[in-house]
Amino acid sequence: MDKARKLLIAGNWKMNKTVAEALDLVRSLQVELGLVKEVDIVVCPPFTALSEVSKAIMDSKSIRLGAQNMSEHNFGAHTGEICAGMLKEFSVRYVVLGHSERRQFQKESDGLINAKTKAALAASLKPIVCVGETLAERESNVTEIVVDTQVGGCLSGLTKEQMDEVIIAYEPVWAIGTGKTATSAQAQAVHSFIRQRIAALFDETVAKRVRILYGGSVKPANTRELMSQPDVDGALVGGASLEARSFSDIVKNSI
Ligand code: PGA
Repeated sequence: MDKARKLLIAGNWKMNKTVAEALDLVRSLQVELGLVKEVDIVVCPPFTALSEVSKAIMDSKSIRLGAQNMSEHNFGAHTGEICAGMLKEFSVRYVVLGHSERRQFQKESDGLINAKTKAALAASLKPIVCVGETLAERESNVTEIVVDTQVGGCLSGLTKEQMDEVIIAYEPVWAIGTGKTATSAQAQAVHSFIRQRIAALFDETVAKRVRILYGGSVKPANTRELMSQPDVDGALVGGASLEARSFSDIVKNSI
């Protein structure tokens, strides 16, 4: 696919996969996707599998490692938390921040996600900052207001240079794990809106460069259509990233 920006396909494994299962999956992905150069590929296993998955893909030219969350702090008395420096020990390059499940169940706010984004950037990790409206918000026609607030809040105080490292993921909450995908037109409309907001908050150059991923029930069958939209620069894949066949097909269908 001829795109303005290099596509990025990230698999968010969420709270799935033992170490052995994670290794099985990533080894199969290596076989399927080891030679792919056209698209950036990222896998985000649970923390417990980072060490082994990291070793398994050490020589990979195509697959990079991401984490699903991190603390906004660098060290200290934060029981149960993991900081950027700990992720770096396993050659993690990307970190998903502000996923809607964390916004909903761990009550993460835009302010907290902003602090985490800054901590990630300070450690040279690439944050994948998630935004998206709930079904009630879409039905009340406030999608743009909600997404605008999230984008502005999460990226507040970042420099234009820092924005070069930031990836945004638009994930309508009503499409996550539900089998309901936003239509490609719905996705394109919000992606284009986000890009306009980035231009207003930073500048046109930043807006042209920033990658905006779509997430929410992405599958091999809907990948091509979604990725053909001009402002859709990749996907954040949940359920369909848990099997080598479906994740590989998503990557291949995006090329
Ligand atoms: P899904 O999840 O692909 O299972 O809908 C996407 C996500 O939550 O990142």
